[in-house]
Amino acid sequence: MNILIIHGPNLDLLGKRDPAIYGTATLAQLNAAIKKHATAKKAKTRIFQANCEGRIIDLIAANTAWADWLIINPAAYTHYSYAIRDSIKASGLPAIEVHLSNISKREPFRRISVTKAVCVKQIAGFGHDSYLKAVDFAINNAKK
Ligand code: DQA
Repeated sequence: MNILIIHGPNLDLLGKRDPAIYGTATLAQLNAAIKKHATAKKAKTRIFQANCEGRIIDLIAANTAWADWLIINPAAYTHYSYAIRDSIKASGLPAIEVHLSNISKREPFRRISVTKAVCVKQIAGFGHDSYLKAVDFAINNAKK
C-alpha cells in the first residue's frame, strides 16, 4: 500500500500558526507521526508540502503511478480550487480530504469544500489524528 500525502499552503507554518486552532506541533513532527503510524501498518508514504496550487497539481500527477491512495489537506485551496479538484479527479486515485480543524464549525467560507466531492471521504477536526485516521481508512479500504 503506497500512500501519497500532500499538505497544502501554510501548513509548513504548523507550530507557529494559530496554535489554538492547529496545535503547537510542527509539520516535521506531524510527518514523523504519520510515517511511524503508516510504517507500523506496512504502508509506504511519500509526503509533500506545497504552497502553490500548480505545485500541488504537479505533485499529484508525478506520484499517481506510484500511489494507491491520496491523502490531501488542500488547506485554503479546499474552499475554492477547482483546479485541485480536477487534478484529484483526473488522477483516478481514491482520495481522502483531511483537515486538522473542524471546518464545518468555523467561518462560513471554510465550511465550503469544492474538493470533497471528488474524495471518498473527508476527515476533519481531529488535529494530527485526522491524518492517522485517514491512513487507517486507506489501509482498511485497499482498492488496487
Ligand atoms: C485547514 C483548514 C483550512 O480552512 C485552512 O485554510 C488551513 C488548514 C485545516 O487543516 O484545518 O490552512 O485545511
